[in-house]
Formats: sequence, C-alpha cells, structure tokens
Amino acid sequence: MSDLESMSDLETLQSEILSAVAAASDEAALEAVRVGALGKKGTVSAKLATLGKMSPEERKTAGAAINVVKDTVTSAIANRRTVLKQIALEARLASETVDVTLPVREPAAATGRIHPISQVMDELAAIFADMGFSIAEGPDVEQDDYNFTKLNFPEGHPAREMHDTFFFNPDENGQRKLLRTHTSPVQVRTMLNQKPPIRVICPGRTYRCDSDQTHTPMFHQVEGLVIDKTAHLGNLKWILEEFCKAFFEVPNVTMRFRPSFFPFTEPSMEVDIQCSRKGGEIRFGEGEDWLEILGCGMVHANVLRNCGIDPDEYQGFAWGMGIDRIAMLKYGMPDLRPFFEADVRWLSHYGFRPLDLPTLAGGLTS
Ligand code: DAH
Repeated sequence: MSDLESMSDLETLQSEILSAVAAASDEAALEAVRVGALGKKGTVSAKLATLGKMSPEERKTAGAAINVVKDTVTSAIANRRTVLKQIALEARLASETVDVTLPVREPAAATGRIHPISQVMDELAAIFADMGFSIAEGPDVEQDDYNFTKLNFPEGHPAREMHDTFFFNPDENGQRKLLRTHTSPVQVRTMLNQKPPIRVICPGRTYRCDSDQTHTPMFHQVEGLVIDKTAHLGNLKWILEEFCKAFFEVPNVTMRFRPSFFPFTEPSMEVDIQCSRKGGEIRFGEGEDWLEILGCGMVHANVLRNCGIDPDEYQGFAWGMGIDRIAMLKYGMPDLRPFFEADVRWLSHYGFRPLDLPTLAGGLTS
C-alpha cells in the first residue's frame, strides 16, 4: 500500500469514528464506540499493530500519523462524555423535582383504625390485668367433650340444643368436632393445665347458628374464672362491679343478681345493670331500667372434678359476657352486623386511633 493510500485510509477511519462519537446518544453508546476504536480489537489498535511489520522509516511517519488519530479520537470521546454526563444530569434534575406545595400524605398510623372489638378486648385486658388476671386462650374448633360434657352438659341434655351448634362431620372414631359455642371450654382447658390458684380471663370468638340485628353466627365472648380455696360470691360481685365502673367509665353502678341456670355453675345468676334509656341513649349508674349483661355463678363441683380439681379443697366462680354486646352498649352502635362487614366507612366512624392504647391510668378511651 502506498503512503498516500494509507494516509487517506487513516483520515476516513478518523472521520468515521468522530462522527460515531458525535452520534452517541448516551454513555453506553459512547463506550461501545470507544471499545470499537481503541479497545484491544479496535480499529485504531489494529492500525497500531501494523507498525511492527514496517521498516523503521515507514514506522516513523505511519506511527506518528496513527498516534495523531488515536489522540484525536481519545480527546473527542472525553469531550463527548462530559457533554453526555451533563445532559443526563439535567434530565434527572428535571424529572426528579419535588413539588413542596403538595399536601403531606398522612401516614398509616393516622388513617388506620382499630376495630371496636379489638379496642374492647384491649380495654378488658387492661382492666382485668390490673386486678391480677392473666389471659387464657383456646381453639375455635373444639371437642364436644370440652364445649359440653366436661362443663356438666350430660349427653342428650336439652341445654345442648339451646346452643345452635355448628358441628363438623364425625371423624373415623365417630367424634364430632364443633365450633365452640361459648368461651367456657377455655375454663376446662385452663383447669386441666394449671394448678390453682387460677385467675384468668378468656376472650375469643364463638359461634352459633343465629343471625339478626343483635346476633351474628360468629361473635365474641369473654370468660372469667377464679379458683382458689376461699373464692366466694362476694369476691365475684366486687370484681364485676369494679369491672363495670372501669369499663363504662362511671363512678358508680348498681347491679342486680337474678337466679338463673347454667349446667356448669351452682348457684347460677344473671346480672343486670341499672341504666336510663332517655332519648334513645343508654346511660349507666342512673335511671330506672335494667339491662342484662352477663351470666355467672360458682363453678359446679362436677366441673371441678371433671377437670381434675378436688371440690372439697378448691372452689371458684366464673362469668361469661358478650364482648360485641358491651361494645355496642358503650359506643352506641345499634346494629351488630356491620361489625363484620369490613366497610371502611363504618370503621373510620366507629374505629379507634391505633396509638391511643387503652390504659387505666391514661384513660380507656381518649
Ligand atoms: N357460657 C355461657 C353462655 O355462653 C355464659 C356463661 C354463664 C359463662 C355463666 C360462665 C358462667 O362462665 O358462669 O351463655
């Protein structure tokens, strides 16, 4: 190849590379151009590799000419890189602007709400923890034995029929599990697993086949159980009175204990609290009306015996109460069904702020 020919070759190569550099629209494209020209197998590097085969004379002129191309291309790439960096920065600055005049979005803790049932359960825990009770829990799917038999409901006893029980199909041994109809089986589980003295409350879900304005197939109860050597009805009465005053946040309550029947207590009672219902609003601690709020009694000797506790040594009392019902009474909610409809409008109206935890010192409901 003549000197002239290779000179014009070099010029063409240089101008091709320079126009590719000018056309590179981002840093990745520019890098590709650089590798194609100056990389190990690049077009400029290939020219440099031809120098070894030349005579010293040729190498002097050709070497100088190729190095000029190399320097020109290198500085063109560096310049283009600076320009592209600047363009990329300007694009980011334009797209990542923050409009400081936009209103602040509220955090979840400000918009989320605690369901009234959860709130009341927390209130119950706060009130009874203060009286030295701990919380016991049991499964929703329960054995017939714990839900009925050990609680002194004999097989075929009519009280079983009153519970509108949801039964599962019998298993291979002919045993039918059920959805617990009350929280009383947790009493059984507690007595079987703990030694007296016992002082627990058992809040949880319960199920009965029933549905209207004040009944839903799933509802909530809280059970209370105290077992020791001297527990008596006077203690029970004091506990329930203290509970009602704390829960309804009134200085005084008047209660009425009426005789009743439950298979698992003897004697058994139902408890009403005095209230006024003027103007469609219920107020406690005043008035002429009575409202039933719970069932209670001394734990039946058969139940103690069924749970491995000697009734000649120990005695105790228990009570059971509908959580949904006391929530409706306290917070003036007329219908039970929306409790379980997950309607966010209902929840934002009746719900509670997540960080306002109920405490006896700070107030149950702030
Ligand atoms: N388990 C009863 C029910 O669901 C409520 C109840 C009444 C529980 C008296 C008790 C009790 O512990 O002593 O109707």
